[in-house]
Amino acid sequence: MPEITHRAPNCATAPKAGNEGVYHLQLKPGDVPGYVLLPGAPERTTVIAKNWDDVREIASYREYKTVSGTYEGVKLAATSTGIGGPSSEICIHELRTLGAHTCIRVGTTGSIVPEFDLNDLIIPVACVRKDGTSVTYVEPEFPAFADTRVVMALMRACEKLGFRYGLGLSYTTGSFYIGQGRPLNEDGSGYWPSFAEKLIPDLQQARVTNIEMETAAQYVVGYLHGMRMGAVLSVIANRALNRWGDDGG
Ligand code: URA
Repeated sequence: MPEITHRAPNCATAPKAGNEGVYHLQLKPGDVPGYVLLPGAPERTTVIAKNWDDVREIASYREYKTVSGTYEGVKLAATSTGIGGPSSEICIHELRTLGAHTCIRVGTTGSIVPEFDLNDLIIPVACVRKDGTSVTYVEPEFPAFADTRVVMALMRACEKLGFRYGLGLSYTTGSFYIGQGRPLNEDGSGYWPSFAEKLIPDLQQARVTNIEMETAAQYVVGYLHGMRMGAVLSVIANRALNRWGDDGG
């Protein structure tokens, strides 16, 4: 008779991965400390951790890669969120179940104002919630805002390191192309609704500083789960001058 092994039954409300970790991040309690940095791309976790000590790659599955380590004696982790609100929601939720309490998105963005050019850093104090994910958590009038203590810490770090930075109001959208005012074809043919044409001028009127795809969802989901959230975004597109310069932020 083949030997029958018994595993604890999995449950649908909080599914576990094959390694008994949380389903998508594949991390177990104790794998991440309270402070977690959140790049979008998996390869950026390793770049972020290059000046850390005791660096360990803990898990890598789909868009989610996690490395942990210490910096000046403080335990840290970096977990990639993937692109957009849905994958960010999964990441923040699962990190929270593991005890993470303070998360900082380390990402990229497109500037729509002359004050921020390529390579500048924007710290969004709040976001317009066009992410499409945060409305599944709470009504659209609820604000998406950063934790003031995290914003202050990021400002201090930028001052100390001599980076050009400023505070911003981010437009977070669930689209990279039409929803950010990018036509299908350069000659203007194809689907190109009037709202897409007017998007950037209208946001400029409303004094929005930049466009990206994750921050609002992360701020709202994190806040509702009792976390301190913040973000620092490197400008890789200048939509006013139609310039692109992605050196990885
Ligand atoms: N990320 C975005 O979502 N848009 C940009 O233009 C640049 C980075």
